[in-house]
Amino acid sequence: MKLLITGSSGLLGLNLALEAMNAHEVIGVDRATLKSAPFRTIQADLLDEGAVDSVLDEARPDWLVHCAAIADLEACEENPEAARRLNTDLPSALAKACRERSIQMVQVSTDAVFDGTKSGIYTEEDDPLPVSVYSSTKLEAERLVLESNPDAIVARVNFYGWSLGGRRSLAEFFFNNLTNNKSMSGYTDVIFCPMHAAHLSQTLLMMLAKGLHGLYHAVGPQPMSKYQFGVEIARKFGLNESEISPKSIQASSLLARRAHNLYLSVNKLSTDLGQSLPSFSTGLDLFYAQFKEGFPQKLKSFTQG
Ligand SMILES: NC(=O)c1ccc[n+]([C@@H]2O[C@H](COP(=O)([O-])OP(=O)(O)OC[C@H]3O[C@@H](n4cnc5c(N)ncnc54)[C@H](OP(=O)(O)O)[C@@H]3O)[C@@H](O)[C@H]2O)c1
Repeated sequence: MKLLITGSSGLLGLNLALEAMNAHEVIGVDRATLKSAPFRTIQADLLDEGAVDSVLDEARPDWLVHCAAIADLEACEENPEAARRLNTDLPSALAKACRERSIQMVQVSTDAVFDGTKSGIYTEEDDPLPVSVYSSTKLEAERLVLESNPDAIVARVNFYGWSLGGRRSLAEFFFNNLTNNKSMSGYTDVIFCPMHAAHLSQTLLMMLAKGLHGLYHAVGPQPMSKYQFGVEIARKFGLNESEISPKSIQASSLLARRAHNLYLSVNKLSTDLGQSLPSFSTGLDLFYAQFKEGFPQKLKSFTQG
């Protein structure tokens, strides 16, 4: 299949492109960050007038996975208008353009659409209630995408991995601080379900291949606190976990409100795929193995012309 990936220089987009290359023809879109990627790229600012149509007409893909976004919650609070344009208006335009061209689209959404006040596990049936500019713009995108393109997939995700700049994921935050012997906080009262970006990529590709459509939770099967996640990284790499101080998110000076409980059920997805999703420990093993194989350095080399 021919797969177009927006945000192919980003954390998910780049991992997805590298994963998909094994079986598909990949074309990435970014704004000239990638200089020597091992897949074809189109340079475009997708917010430019006419860019959506021209990129789709140039690439003529079977599938589109839309990863481009302002995924930094603090940046969204600081510039809500920019967040709305990129996180809501752009996916809405892409969904319409994909429907006109019979391109199967994945809109990458977020676990953060919930307010996190539920004491149990969130299913796709639960009402979302966003608590930040970021999550509001992503939720509105979900609604608009499925309204104009009911064949699209909306995947609510949470993932980690190695990124181009080496600082994009929570796992890299813990790893970087731990290797520099810098102390850091880990939130004990934010529960989430992290999935390795490569495993999420494989999952999204399976969803496309199966012809799924509609709303899915596509997160890791195991919930944990952000503090516990940091400790798991420290242990895996043999680093000093006592550098991570268990803290409440209430004590942070973050601008964007965070939900406390983002434990999402993946039952619907695993049932429809006919298989369980990769475990947390498999993902962590992969994160470690990639480090040992020089994967972070390989990614950095893609920025050199
Ligand atoms: N990171 C997480 O843990 C997380 C959790 C839940 C959901 N998500 C969602 O997952 C998706 C991917 O997130 P990510 O963390 O991989 O993002 P990221 O690393 O911040 O990458 C963002 C990408 O968007 C591209 N982009 C930004 N503005 C653009 C524009 N005007 N035109 C074209 N491309 C543009 C960037 O390209 P340039 O290199 O040109 O800037 C970059 O490739 C997003 O939808 C996000 O909301 C992320």
